Amino acid sequence: MDRQFLIGKKICLRPLEIEDITEQYLHWVNDYDVVQGRVDITVPITRDKQVEYVKSNLERDNVALFAIIVKASGRFIGTAKFGPINWVHRFAEHATLIGDKNTWNKGYGSEVILLLLEYGFRILNMHKIYAGINADNLASIRKNEKVGYKTEAIFKDKLFIKGRYVDNLVMSLSQDEFFKLYPESILDRHRKHYRAKITKVISLVSKKKI
Ligand SMILES: CC(C)(COP(=O)(O)OP(=O)(O)OC[C@H]1O[C@@H](n2cnc3c(N)ncnc32)[C@H](O)[C@@H]1OP(=O)(O)O)[C@@H](O)C(=O)NCCC(=O)NCCS
Repeated sequence: MDRQFLIGKKICLRPLEIEDITEQYLHWVNDYDVVQGRVDITVPITRDKQVEYVKSNLERDNVALFAIIVKASGRFIGTAKFGPINWVHRFAEHATLIGDKNTWNKGYGSEVILLLLEYGFRILNMHKIYAGINADNLASIRKNEKVGYKTEAIFKDKLFIKGRYVDNLVMSLSQDEFFKLYPESILDRHRKHYRAKITKVISLVSKKKI
């Protein structure tokens, strides 16, 4: 919990490190249940390949990689990618992978998107943020809709998934729409709450109550 970059209500996002590429992580990226809903290609991922992927992204100045951490338990449950970022036109894409299936449908995925939108719109001054979604991935569509995303484009039959062609949706939100939906920074709210909690713990420790 000490390197959190974006703090939400139930989760926080911290920098993803090469050391995060554990057996558990390699299991997630090779678990067809987890990766089948994604838009990118599905191939077996070796440790070397994943290390190369993370390293090459860490070197780019238009991509931010995050580890998703559950605040209550400190558990690492997945990863999020913000980027590629286009600094001229101010748009960016994102992708989320929650590998621990036991943690699906608990609101973590939608909170990840909200934190990425806060980061993109309020910190990086992006104009438009979007994600490409496989139309069969109803959980992903729903988690995006929950934070305000709308389907802006549909590429008919673009993806070949489990033996048939599936539509590829582009879901997006503009900075103006985001500021209307969220006039106040969610990050500030949680950061203040987190700081107040830490201050309380420090004061109790100094009074030797814990
Ligand atoms: C897609 C993913 C990020 C969603 O994360 P999550 O933590 O489960 O998301 P949330 O809990 O915030 O929201 C999921 C919503 O979808 C709903 N949902 C789940 N399965 C559904 C289905 N088959 N049909 C309709 N809605 C469904 C849930 O009920 C929930 O909505 P609710 O809160 O209104 O009840 C996660 O499942 C994941 O990482 N999957 C593997 C990788 C992937 O597909 N990534 C996304 C593409 S880049």
